[in-house]
Amino acid sequence: MDALVSLCKRRGFLFQSSEIYGGVQGLWDYGPLGVELKRNLKNAWWQDMITGHNELTAPAGAPSSFEMVGLDCTILMHPQVWKCSGHYDLFHDYMVDCRESKKRYRHDQVRGRFVEYNGQKVFITTLAEIEHEHEEIQRRALKFFKLRPKNAGELTIESESITLDKLDSHDDVLGPDAKSLGTLTEPREFNLMFKTTLGALGGADDTTFLRPETAQGIFVNFKNVLDSSRVRVPFGIGQVGKSFRNEITPRNFTFRSREFEQMEIEFFCHPDQSHDWYRYWRDRRMAWYTAMGLSSESLIMREHEQSELAHYSVGTADIEYAFPFLPEGEYGELEGIAHRGDFDLRSHMEGKLDPATNPMTLQLGEDGKPKYRGSGKDLTYRDDISNEKFIPHVVEPSAGADRAALAFLCEGYTEDQAPDENGKMQGRTVMKLHPRLAPIKAAVFPLVKKDGMPEIAQEIYAGLKQHFNVFYDAKGAVGRRYRRQDEAGTPYCITVDGDSLTDRTVTIRDRDSLEQTRVKIDDCVAEIRQRILA
Ligand code: GAP
Repeated sequence: MDALVSLCKRRGFLFQSSEIYGGVQGLWDYGPLGVELKRNLKNAWWQDMITGHNELTAPAGAPSSFEMVGLDCTILMHPQVWKCSGHYDLFHDYMVDCRESKKRYRHDQVRGRFVEYNGQKVFITTLAEIEHEHEEIQRRALKFFKLRPKNAGELTIESESITLDKLDSHDDVLGPDAKSLGTLTEPREFNLMFKTTLGALGGADDTTFLRPETAQGIFVNFKNVLDSSRVRVPFGIGQVGKSFRNEITPRNFTFRSREFEQMEIEFFCHPDQSHDWYRYWRDRRMAWYTAMGLSSESLIMREHEQSELAHYSVGTADIEYAFPFLPEGEYGELEGIAHRGDFDLRSHMEGKLDPATNPMTLQLGEDGKPKYRGSGKDLTYRDDISNEKFIPHVVEPSAGADRAALAFLCEGYTEDQAPDENGKMQGRTVMKLHPRLAPIKAAVFPLVKKDGMPEIAQEIYAGLKQHFNVFYDAKGAVGRRYRRQDEAGTPYCITVDGDSLTDRTVTIRDRDSLEQTRVKIDDCVAEIRQRILA
């Protein structure tokens, strides 16, 4: 991971935000290569999910044909949106402070539980980022208890149930330093939304939040989309944009950031078909990651247990990737596919709530009525053929653009051997990104800076530049130029050599196979296009 982080900085994929002032945790800037990678990733998603979707035929595995449209909503929204969405009341993490180190942790970084130990309340912990001196104790505790976090302050103990008496008698296992495992404050709630003020007066009513997900912009525009386009259920609305969460402990490079981008689809369907659509989107989104270059051995689909489900969800599956910063056998979430039922449309409507039939109730006040007023607008759907009126159910594939970019960087980072100019094998670092994602599609080199080669190379460069992001490089030995492009992830290098002067052909070198093929100069654009899309 360290080698990847250093390459990202050295080659301009990622920089820490405000670095000259010491940086800010959880905020990252994309450099000249990174911005292209992320833009290509978002464009690929938009093309594959929205504009490239053919609504005339049912794709393989889909219950029927369907339509897809897009939206681009504001980051700041009416404060009521966040009350009715549940984020105001429920979008929190649990935070604990270590009394000794004064460090703050998300509860799920803390593995352990409160116990009475030698007359003291002690948090027996196997902190993921435990201080070095605690490593031995962590190892012993983990081995003995096989702990797995469930809820804040609670644990499932897989290997054997343990009582306090038993614990006391296992001094030998925990060791005399058990107390110094870290005593932590009780977990407390912390809302993850960033608060801000709309307008100059700044009264309580002007308080709103930076959106923590792009989804709500889609729900509140459901009726607008229905009325302004000819979509019929089932259909999906996609959106790509920034979201903000005041994460307690942003970590693992860009994996958990405070400002990040999401690529979300809200797919509206008939309640009776919602489970089929849920399965369809789960499989389709998994296939997208492998088609874009993630190896299927590094990906898993994990169905959430009931206790893990978000407040709106009746079923969720996560697509998870074996990020190299995680311990062996652990995976990190790339995308969640949630069956949200009719929770969102219903709560933005208000008044239709029936807790008896709808287990995903809104936040209810003490009087049993919804705590917050919805819009009062009718967000039901009437099928113009069957005349049936219903609130559509929603399946939501929700991906993170930054997490996906990080996964592609992790997957692509490779150290292998390649021959230098003299045919001698040398170690090389290569970023094996899918050609659709690669920041630079092709680099053009004159073999030497004389005999008319630079002029031909510049002509090719100018021609390609109208179609793709390409790079011209005439500096240094050609082997070194290849290496620079390998690190940048450039899939093709086009070299103008002596033969080009007579037969107007060039070599195209493939980054991964290292194969060189001769192509006519006039065919370069078509050849690169065909290879990118292949
Ligand atoms: N609308 C549903 C929703 O927002 P989520 O699981 O909280 O669901 C969806 O987020 C995706 O957004 C995640 O799978 C992840 O890829 C990305 N994401 C969430 N929090 C993030 C963070 N702090 N930093 C980077 N990406 C994040």
